[in-house]
Amino acid sequence: MKLGVNIDHIASLRELRKSNEPEPLVAAGICEIAGADGIVVHLREDRRHIKDRDLCLLKETVKTKLNLEMSLNKEIVDIACKIVPDQATLVPEKRQELTTEGGLDVVSLRRKIKDVVEKLHSKDILTSLFIEPNKRQIDAAKKTGADFIEIHTGRFANSKNEKELDKNLSEIKSGSLHAHKIGLGVNAGHGLDYRNVISICRIKQIQELNIGYSIICRAVLVGLEQAVRQMRRLIDTSTALSIPSTSLGMVRGMVSESNHNPKRNRRVDLHSL
Ligand code: PXP
Repeated sequence: MKLGVNIDHIASLRELRKSNEPEPLVAAGICEIAGADGIVVHLREDRRHIKDRDLCLLKETVKTKLNLEMSLNKEIVDIACKIVPDQATLVPEKRQELTTEGGLDVVSLRRKIKDVVEKLHSKDILTSLFIEPNKRQIDAAKKTGADFIEIHTGRFANSKNEKELDKNLSEIKSGSLHAHKIGLGVNAGHGLDYRNVISICRIKQIQELNIGYSIICRAVLVGLEQAVRQMRRLIDTSTALSIPSTSLGMVRGMVSESNHNPKRNRRVDLHSL
């Protein structure tokens, strides 16, 4: 399972002082060295963290995959078509929100989204739609011609009790299965951290996880390289443990089977990562 690291909050920190550090470009390089398969940035309409300049520099320097999160706003779509990131992930965007809230309503916005997907495809940009794990939204996403969906895991991450957690996880599982069946690539992200990511890694249809906040929070305390390496190993170990094969023996002790029970997914031996 691939890991895309969202570095928006490196830029958020820079913007706290309107200074020139920390530099997102350097952060992206460190994430790649530590094992990230891609770098994710959201060029918001209000440019509250990532700026046009960051996007241009990242386009020149990212060696893995540059995934641009973006709204359907015409100015932003034109920028994407000019810069040509490897992938664009279409998200809903509200001015006042602290972070992206909920998935795109593809059912209502299908025509508009289809136009944007076509525009991006004309520049050979892969497209992904950030949506809730809902069959109607997934079917509508397929009709837009998008290559991937990114399942919004925020509701799962914010589950208040085991019942809610089970329900939200099972929706993500059935949504992933359905999307895969109808030929969409499946990614997931939002609110994932070093504990709840384990149950998501067990969903075989999911190809890529996009994670930002929890990695950057950890990076402040242990360093960015270590924070990314720990998430990388946690994903690799959890994914391997979900494969019923004899190679399981190769994965020793880092994440015990009990960690895979979503009801007990608070127990992760982080010291061994
Ligand atoms: N995926 C999408 C589409 C997002 O909008 C975000 C937040 O920018 C993320 C993933 C990462 O979420 P988090 O920062 O909670 O890990």
